[in-house]
Amino acid sequence: MATKVIKGGIVCTADRSWQADVLIDGEKIARIGENLVGDEYVDAEGAYVIPGGIDPHTHMEMPFMGTTAAETFETGTWAAATGGTTMLIDFCLPGADGSIVNAIQDWHRKSAPQICADIGYHMAVTGWNEQIFNEMKTAVEMGVNSFKHFMAYKGALMVEDDEMFASFKRCRELGALPMVHAENGNLVADLQQDMLAKGITGPEGHAYSRPPEVEGEAANRAITIADAAGVPLYVVHVSCEQAHEAIRRARQKGMRVYGEPLIQYLTMDDSVYFSGDWLHSARRVMSPPFRNKEHQDGLWAGLQAGSLQVVATDHCAFSSEQKLRGKDNFCLIPNGSHGVEERMAVLWTTGVETGRLTPNEFVAATSSNAAKIFNIYPQKGALVEGADADIVVWDPKISRTYSAENHHSILDYSVWEGVEVTAQARYTLSRGDVIWAWGKNSQPQPGRGRFTPRPAYPSALKALSKWKEIHAPKQINRDPLNIPAGV
Ligand code: URP
Ligand code: ZN
Ligand code: ZN
Repeated sequence: MATKVIKGGIVCTADRSWQADVLIDGEKIARIGENLVGDEYVDAEGAYVIPGGIDPHTHMEMPFMGTTAAETFETGTWAAATGGTTMLIDFCLPGADGSIVNAIQDWHRKSAPQICADIGYHMAVTGWNEQIFNEMKTAVEMGVNSFKHFMAYKGALMVEDDEMFASFKRCRELGALPMVHAENGNLVADLQQDMLAKGITGPEGHAYSRPPEVEGEAANRAITIADAAGVPLYVVHVSCEQAHEAIRRARQKGMRVYGEPLIQYLTMDDSVYFSGDWLHSARRVMSPPFRNKEHQDGLWAGLQAGSLQVVATDHCAFSSEQKLRGKDNFCLIPNGSHGVEERMAVLWTTGVETGRLTPNEFVAATSSNAAKIFNIYPQKGALVEGADADIVVWDPKISRTYSAENHHSILDYSVWEGVEVTAQARYTLSRGDVIWAWGKNSQPQPGRGRFTPRPAYPSALKALSKWKEIHAPKQINRDPLNIPAGV
């Protein structure tokens, strides 16, 4: 097989940057060093060479709120690849039969022929019974090592505290990571009815009925439950200071709690719900909603200080027509927005170009931290010999203005319309193949992507059972799962 050398760039990882070439042999990185020689060359002069982005929060073709997310596995993974993201972790939902195993098979059936880049899954736990208890083990054996719990969407996906506690304990036994959508679903349901009773039926009702306090309360509750179960916790789509504060406090106590702001929350605020243009506002309806600038500043500070680790998108794209389902009642607007194509360039422009983040912190937040937390590091998220050659030649000098006219998403609009960025993926390589080249009319290759299994985490103390006998169980969280250090 022909070898490739990415030549002349600055290799930029989560911990350092240096001038070097990268030699690729087949699907893997073979060497990183000076003056490397190969059969083919990829020009990285004037650019950074970074690990392919990992977006660990997407919903492709997901049935939700009476409809199905419009972005397909093909258009979603392709849009992601054009923006420098080489792996998505997508959320599987159990179908009508409630089976986790059938849901994973169903996701494989849908995704395998379509995906242009690699994919993994999280599994949603939307209730509790013996079948779910048993099938969680099979899910882990099938390479799905993280389970999401919705504390909102009452009457649909929401789980109660006792169900969550049972599932968290099962995660602990299996070496799996629980995740939460932190919003108090009972309060939200009540507040929604209050708004409707007051005659507030438009998208602003969405923001009013999901205040930051309901997110903060749920985050605190989930953290308490995780602590009692003795398991780490990943809090998805952290939008506000109340939830961030809960995560920060837990980490200060020594708990392994991780927080994920979205690129939307970092760059868009709640004024979008008061635009006076129904569709403009509805297209931005997602849960939790966008917050004000103070919350935004808090999220940026969290990324800088390390109390928040991963920038994701929660890409869950609904067309304008789908959004119109809620024309007379904001509760019926399908919740979700999009960003797999834009995430990396927008974070670069608003984070690195402004001096808030270093290029290395950018790599950590867009790739390496997710790889560590979700147990695929250093196969993904790292530039080291033997790692998958998922690599992006990141050009900090290509400008672009986003628009529905030029994006690769299936959507008929863009919430990023008119947003200007100052960097782009010059080349995106997926397991050694150049799948995207800026300005070269690259085409999607559906079916080229692969499912990447993510194994269970070992207990950090397995080999140290003597120590455990002496010290346990004074403090519940003393036996962490062995997630690589530094996140
Ligand atoms: O509004 C959102 N976030 N839609 C996707 C489903 C979820 O809650 O993650
Ligand atoms: Zn959610
Ligand atoms: Zn989501």
